[in-house]
Amino acid sequence: MKKTKKRTIDFLSSVSIELKIYGMVLIVVLTVTVISLIVVRISIANTLTMQIEDRAKSISSDIASRSVDPLLTHNIFALQSLINDTMNSYEDIEYIFILNKDGEVVVHSNGKGFISPDLINSNQVKSEGDMLETSSKKLFTNKGMILDSASPIFPDLGGTVRAGLTQKSLNEALMKVTNQMIFTMIGVMLLSGVVVFGLTRILTIPISNLVQLTNKVYSGNLTERISTYPKDEIGKLTASFNKMLDSLQKSEMDKEIYIEKINNRNKELSLLNSLSQNFKDHVQLEETLQYFVKQLVQELDLKSAFIEIDWKETKERYFNHSSSCAINCTHFSSDLYTCSRSEKEVYAFPLKTGKGNDIGKIIICSTSRLDEPFLKILTSLAAQLSVSIENLELWKEVKKKEEVRLMLLEKIIHVQEDERKRIARELHDETSHSLSSMLVELKLLEEGDEEQKQRTIETLRSLVRQTIEEVHHMAWQLRPSILDKFGLKVAIERYVEEFKKSTNIDADLIIKGSFKSLNPELETAIFRLVQESLTNITKYAKAENVSIIVLSTGQQVSVVIEDDGVGFDTQSVLGNDPSKEHLGLLGMHERIALLNGTLHIESVIDQGTTVLAKVPLLSDRSEINVS
Ligand SMILES: Nc1ncnc2c1ncn2[C@@H]1O[C@H](COP(=O)(O)OP(=O)(O)OP(=O)(O)O)[C@@H](O)[C@H]1O
Ligand SMILES: [Mg+2]
Repeated sequence: MKKTKKRTIDFLSSVSIELKIYGMVLIVVLTVTVISLIVVRISIANTLTMQIEDRAKSISSDIASRSVDPLLTHNIFALQSLINDTMNSYEDIEYIFILNKDGEVVVHSNGKGFISPDLINSNQVKSEGDMLETSSKKLFTNKGMILDSASPIFPDLGGTVRAGLTQKSLNEALMKVTNQMIFTMIGVMLLSGVVVFGLTRILTIPISNLVQLTNKVYSGNLTERISTYPKDEIGKLTASFNKMLDSLQKSEMDKEIYIEKINNRNKELSLLNSLSQNFKDHVQLEETLQYFVKQLVQELDLKSAFIEIDWKETKERYFNHSSSCAINCTHFSSDLYTCSRSEKEVYAFPLKTGKGNDIGKIIICSTSRLDEPFLKILTSLAAQLSVSIENLELWKEVKKKEEVRLMLLEKIIHVQEDERKRIARELHDETSHSLSSMLVELKLLEEGDEEQKQRTIETLRSLVRQTIEEVHHMAWQLRPSILDKFGLKVAIERYVEEFKKSTNIDADLIIKGSFKSLNPELETAIFRLVQESLTNITKYAKAENVSIIVLSTGQQVSVVIEDDGVGFDTQSVLGNDPSKEHLGLLGMHERIALLNGTLHIESVIDQGTTVLAKVPLLSDRSEINVS
């Protein structure tokens, strides 16, 4: 039961509104028609039955009044004629018969047939006091219902006229009315069908428009609207739907803009990420930039992009094009770059260090104008690239310095070791030898005569002097104590004197300014710089003249050492990776840099070399021992 109910509900809910309205109208029209048909039929039947009853009464009464005389005269023929005439006059009379006072049939309308006693007894005249009155009865016979009327024959004959009328006319009338009503019903149904069709169209067209629009919205089309709609509830619904679509479309557009922004941001982040990753993976600037420019073109859908680096010793150009390009796509050294003819828009994004110095630029060639978010991405990429390049350079410098420092340390250890060996050798070969000679001389002093003693004392004196000189020399070699005793000025003067004596090179020394309050680190650094420069001149320069100028101004100490020797290629010597064999110039550089000073070395082949150092006196440097 429940299942059938559910099925019916499912079926009804799946039927279209148009069909539902048709069904409803059909049911209403049918119900109204059937009910009215029943009501009309009942009322017609009642009215007609009463009419037939009345007619039956009047026919039987009429015959009763007209049959008095014939009955008195016993004129059977006249009575029969009366019945026959009446029968002929009315189609729906089933029978007429006259009974005498004994209840016997005198005449009847059945021709040769007879009247059954059941029929005779079925109705009798009514007596109301002394009065006899016509009685009517409905008889249910094998020929259908018959309205029987029994009228008394006056005055004292005591006979009865019976007349039975069929319901033929009633049935015909009912049939007629029913047919008319059925036709009317069909007509009403057709008419209401047309009217309902029109009305449902008015009702369903806006609904089906709404349904169509909903389907379009479902398939993603948010631009369609319903322009004309009624002012009823469906119209209001349509107007609200249109409004809802407006706001939906707006929010959809907002969403797209938002998504585009997120995409741009993602691209930017992914590029920045790949850039930083790349800088982490590739230590070489060239590799990194080649990769970056390629990523730039791919990720941002560019036609072509260049990166130009012009910083320190690096002067490079990197290029990438989205389509196939000539041989060296990612790296070219031509001085000229050109965007293709179709790429009318050229953008340059400067690359700068943290201090604002130019490093180079990113150049983008585009066929169309780049929009604001795109330019922002490229600007931030340029900033990130600048930082990364600067970091890479700094990292390289730190690495180089670290290497130099390690090598210098190694060299110091070697030098110390060599110094120890040399001192041991000198103590063994010279000082120990002099002391042994002194022992021998002292023995002679014990044994010899006066004259010999005098000679031995002389020899001993000279041996002691020689030993003192040897020890002095050794001490000087270890550290110029003169620097501690008399200061930088005297130490440099003495060293230059020694240099002139041992090399036969003409050295011209100018020292000016006050050198009294210099700190020991600075004194040592300047002294070692002079020492290393003069050693290099001795070793390599083949110079004839050397000029040494040392100036102390109170703010800084500057040193210039110039020779007229063979010179050397500073670019290749200083640009090369540091080597353990050649650490003199690098060591000089390190010492001066630690004191916040600057060192410049200029050299021209066959013309000579100039070493220029400047060290500030009042710098707030930290205390680092470099000696
Ligand atoms: N005054 C100069 N004239 C000509 N060449 C020079 C001069 N000074 C330096 N050089 C060149 O520069 C190179 C580097 O010098 P540097 O002092 O750094 O190393 P080095 O003297 O070879 O070794 P180290 O000083 O470590 O014992 C030298 O090998 C030499 O070729
Ligand atoms: Mg050297």
